[in-house]
Amino acid sequence: QRERGSRYRHPVNAPHSEPELFTWEFATDPYPAYAWLREHAPVHRTTLPSGVEAWLVTRYADAKQALADARLSKNPVHHSEDAPGKSKTGIPGERSANLMTHLLNIDPPDHTRLRRLVSKAFTPRRVAEFAPRVQELTDHLIDQFAQTGSADLIHEFAFPLPIYAICDLLGVPREDQDDFRDWAGMMIRHGGGPRGGVARSVKKMRGYLAELIHRKREALPADPGPGEDLISGLIRASDHGEHLTENEAAAMCFVLLFAGFETTINLIGNGTYALLRNPQQRARLQQSIERGEQDLLDTGIEELLRYDGPVELATWRYATEPLDMGGQRIASGDPVLVVLAAADRDPARFDEPDTLDLSRSDNQHLGYGHGIHYCIGAPLARLEGRTALATLLRRLPDLRLAADPADLRWRGGLIMRGLRNLPVEFTAT
Ligand code: HEM
Repeated sequence: QRERGSRYRHPVNAPHSEPELFTWEFATDPYPAYAWLREHAPVHRTTLPSGVEAWLVTRYADAKQALADARLSKNPVHHSEDAPGKSKTGIPGERSANLMTHLLNIDPPDHTRLRRLVSKAFTPRRVAEFAPRVQELTDHLIDQFAQTGSADLIHEFAFPLPIYAICDLLGVPREDQDDFRDWAGMMIRHGGGPRGGVARSVKKMRGYLAELIHRKREALPADPGPGEDLISGLIRASDHGEHLTENEAAAMCFVLLFAGFETTINLIGNGTYALLRNPQQRARLQQSIERGEQDLLDTGIEELLRYDGPVELATWRYATEPLDMGGQRIASGDPVLVVLAAADRDPARFDEPDTLDLSRSDNQHLGYGHGIHYCIGAPLARLEGRTALATLLRRLPDLRLAADPADLRWRGGLIMRGLRNLPVEFTAT
C-alpha cells in the first residue's frame, strides 16, 4: 500500500533531485515537489502541460509580494505568447462567449471601478442573511443519501451545494437551477479544454444570464425590497453615478459563479478528506461541534484552506516590465504563476507546515489570495464550508472513507486542486 498518509503529515519528504511536475503522482500529492522547489528553485521557469512557459513562485514571502505587485498584470494582452481561445483564469470558454471583461482579467482603474460596484451589492451582510438558506440546502442534500449508508460526497454533496447556493443568491428561479447544474457539471468535467460541449454550455449560460439580467432590470422596483436578489442588487449598484452595463453584469455573474463554484466544491471535498485522514483532529472538531462551539470550526476552516486549499495556483499574471524575483530575471510578457499551495506550506512562515492543526492561530494563509484581487466571495465560502462540514459531522458522526486513498483521483488542471470522487460510508439514519 502507498504510504501517502505518512508523507502527507510532518515532515514532507522532498525528493533529492528536481521533481517532475504535472505527472499523475504530482496531481495526487504535489507537496513534496513544492518543498523541493521552495528550497532549490523558489522562482522556477517551467513548461506547462499546455506547452506555455511560465514562472512558478513557491515561497510565501515572494508569493505574497507577487500577488500585490502592480507590475504583474492580470490582463492577458500582456502575455508575450498570448493566443486567442486560451482561458487564463481556469474559467473555461470565457473567450468564446465574450466574457473576458471580469475582475480576474483586468487591472486598475477598470478593476477598481468594477470591484467597487460589486462590493456594494455582494456584501458580508447579504451573505450573513443567506445563512439559513445554506443550512436548509445542506440538510436537504444530506437527506437524499442519509438513509443509504454510503455516498460519493463530491457528486452528491460538494458539487450541488455551491451551485444551488449561488443560483439562489443571484436570483436564478428554482425551476431553472437544474440547467445551471448541468452546464456547470459539463464545465467541471471537461476543465478548461476547448471542447465543444464546454463552449456550448458556457454560451447557453451566458445567454440565459443576459436575458435574466435584462428581465430583472426592466422589472426593477424603485426601492429595494427585503431579500432582494444579488442580480437586482448588481443592477441597482451605483458608484459616483456609474452603473454596471448589462454586459458587465453578465460577466460579473459569470465570474461569481465560476470563481465560487469549483473552489467551494474543493473546500468541502479536500476539507472532508483531510479530516478523515487526521482522526484526532477530526474527533476534536466533532466534539466541539457537538458542544455547539464555534471557535474550532472557524480556525479549522482556515487551516483546511491552508493545508490543502481549493486553489493550488493563483490565476495568471504577466510581467509588464522586466523584474527581479527570487534571484531570477523575469522578462516583460512572461507569465508568473503564484503557487498558493506551496506558499501555504512554507516552513519559513508556518510552524510544522505539513501538520494539520485545526486550532492554528497564526494562520495568515494565501488561500484566498492577497491584494486587490483578494477573494470577494470569502464570506460566502466560509459560510458554506462551515455549514457543510459541521452538518456532515453532526448528522453522520461515524463518517468514514470507503476507498483506499491511493485509489482516489484528483482532477487535473492547473489552477484548482480537488478530488474527482470521495466515497464514504456511515451508519444510515
Ligand atoms: C478571487 C480563492 C470562493 C469569487 C479569488 C482568489 C483566490 C480565491 C485565491 C484570487 C485569485 C488571484 O489573485 O489570482 C477562493 C477560495 C474559495 C473561493 C479558496 C472557496 C473556498 C469564492 C466564492 C465566490 C468567489 C464563493 C463568489 C461567489 C471570487 C471573485 C474573485 C475571487 C469574483 C476575483 C476578485 C478580484 O479579482 O477582484 N478567490 N475563492 N470566490 N473569488 Fe474566490
